[in-house]
Amino acid sequence: MLPFSSLIVLDKSAKSPVFIQIATAVAEHIRRGVLLPQTQLPGTRALAAALGVHRKTVVAAYDELLAQGWIETLASRGTFVSPKLPEVQPLALEKSPAGPLSQQAGFDFHTKPLLAVPVLQGSDALSFDDGFPDVRLAPWDAYCRAYRSVVRKGFRKKLLFYGQMSGEHSLRAAMTDYLRESRGLPIDLDKVLITRGSMMAIYLVAQCVLRPGDTVLVGNICYTSGNLIFKHAGATLQTVPVDARGLDVDAIEALCQKMPVRMVYVTPHHHYPTTVMMPAERRLRLLQLARTYRFCILEDDYDYDFHYDSSPILPLAGADAGQNVVYIGSLSKVFSPALRVGYVVAPAEVIEELARLRRIVDRQGDNLSEAALAVLFREGEMRRHLKKAQKVYHRRRNLFCELLKTELGTAVEFTRPSGGLAVWAQFDPAISLSSLVQTAAANGLRFSDGIKYSSHLNATRLGFASVNESEIEQGMAILKKSISRYR
Ligand SMILES: Cc1ncc(COP(=O)(O)O)c(C=O)c1O
Repeated sequence: MLPFSSLIVLDKSAKSPVFIQIATAVAEHIRRGVLLPQTQLPGTRALAAALGVHRKTVVAAYDELLAQGWIETLASRGTFVSPKLPEVQPLALEKSPAGPLSQQAGFDFHTKPLLAVPVLQGSDALSFDDGFPDVRLAPWDAYCRAYRSVVRKGFRKKLLFYGQMSGEHSLRAAMTDYLRESRGLPIDLDKVLITRGSMMAIYLVAQCVLRPGDTVLVGNICYTSGNLIFKHAGATLQTVPVDARGLDVDAIEALCQKMPVRMVYVTPHHHYPTTVMMPAERRLRLLQLARTYRFCILEDDYDYDFHYDSSPILPLAGADAGQNVVYIGSLSKVFSPALRVGYVVAPAEVIEELARLRRIVDRQGDNLSEAALAVLFREGEMRRHLKKAQKVYHRRRNLFCELLKTELGTAVEFTRPSGGLAVWAQFDPAISLSSLVQTAAANGLRFSDGIKYSSHLNATRLGFASVNESEIEQGMAILKKSISRYR
């Protein structure tokens, strides 16, 4: 028999009752493995005598231990440590100082000041955003139904385990069909990789194609989050002028004659942020240059699906005989940015390498969500949604542009965009955008001050798609009132 009188040390002057002290000490010895499962404990009378306490105190301690599941009593045999122990709290390696974890690390690590930039977050406030969809329109009920059914079926299949690094098979297949039908891309399954948004797509392509010191050409001005990724990969950025027809291809050619160019990042459908469309003749010249100088064209087609006045020009990737284009897109503007589903279309050997790179950051995407989205594509739900959204956004664009003109007059210059989800608005230089943004926010409307696009243009993107007609009217009234302070 273990020496219980020395194992259980009592403090009769302590605040906690003696029976609790006994129960706590016994539980602690069980937890530490001093008292092993199925060890017999002394009878109540014997333990009371050993500890110098009343027998009823030991009975109460045993009752407490029984209730917590540490011990069990077997009829006419006695009291034993339970063979099945209650869930135990992990023991600290050493006594740590009380309080939350410190802000400072105990080791050296690398910070990249480059990456320390503000990041956009959703808000319920009224806003003319960067050009996001109205997520209230997306077929969430159908998505939830598809998700449920995928999970149920998943129990019989391998869907609930690790899957393919290049994306859930059914979504790759659905996406292949969709991209072929909607954009004329001559592709099959092995040319498509599903990513978590086009942001990840840009990151993977940058890691795959760029080496430190490589030159990437980007527009002046362009998508600055893309620039971050290229710089993070060690690339040197060279800017190319942007005019009413997108990137200046003559300037690209001039740079190619001066230096080796590894990549050109382009948003030809609606140049980001200015929304202008690159015409066919410039696109063909760009493809020609890519073939001659062997650079990669990274074509970011972030809002191809919305066009209101005419049919869109097909992507560069569809006319790319030289296999120089890597085409990326996402469902962020089609459905919702929260889904984090994007894709890359590229020659098969590039897709294979991208999948390997993806594996070391994310292994794979969300199988279940991807399979649910594939159901929406297969059942025509996505097509119906796009058709509906296109009509709604068309109306909103018209109203938005009409009010910009009639309500704000000469305070804002803009060209009505033929597609996409935002207007590029240049404000009268007499109105400081950064100060206007603050006034409007105080009045209940949010929008960007445009600094992230350019610090000297006094221009910004005003999204019209995520706000309904009455919200557009409300927002415009606030904008008008806020501007009146400056005139
Ligand atoms: C031009 C452009 N490319 C890429 C993205 C990234 O989108 P996501 O990662 O949500 O697909 C955005 C987001 O607004 C964008 O405007």
